[in-house]
Amino acid sequence: MAIRNIREMGDEVLTKRCKEVTEVTPRIRELIEDMLETMYEANGVGLAAPQVGILKRIVVIDVTGEDPYILINPRIVESSGEQTGQEGCLSVPGKSGMVTRPNYVKAVALDVNMKPIELEGTELLARAICHELDHLDGHLYVEKVEGELQDVVYEDEDGDEV
Ligand code: NI
Repeated sequence: MAIRNIREMGDEVLTKRCKEVTEVTPRIRELIEDMLETMYEANGVGLAAPQVGILKRIVVIDVTGEDPYILINPRIVESSGEQTGQEGCLSVPGKSGMVTRPNYVKAVALDVNMKPIELEGTELLARAICHELDHLDGHLYVEKVEGELQDVVYEDEDGDEV
């Protein structure tokens, strides 16, 4: 496994529509393992393949830090409700902004064995699913931000700004 370089806003690869995965090759398995490692290393709750420069419809999500979802060719098939909250993205470091998303989504996808899976989420998981799937169509959350992007203030364990 390896940490991959996370592409940042302004990189054209983040604006492209990704291609469907037709077969999980050893190279794609390695990509997925690297995406998980890269997401955890960056303390993210989700990562989409284009964020590491690969235009394939693959996302990894883990909102708890111990329960990763790997979604291949994911699609949202149901959504309801509304939530408005702060959102950030590993491709837009140091920033966050208010985005309204559905409060519930149901997605269908394939797992690493190309078996169909269904994933339902509310609150943060619903937000993460929407955010990561947008990446696969070349969209960043900044297009949906209400008001201005904010600077994120990082604090150390004593609460001091760093
Ligand atoms: Ni993102």
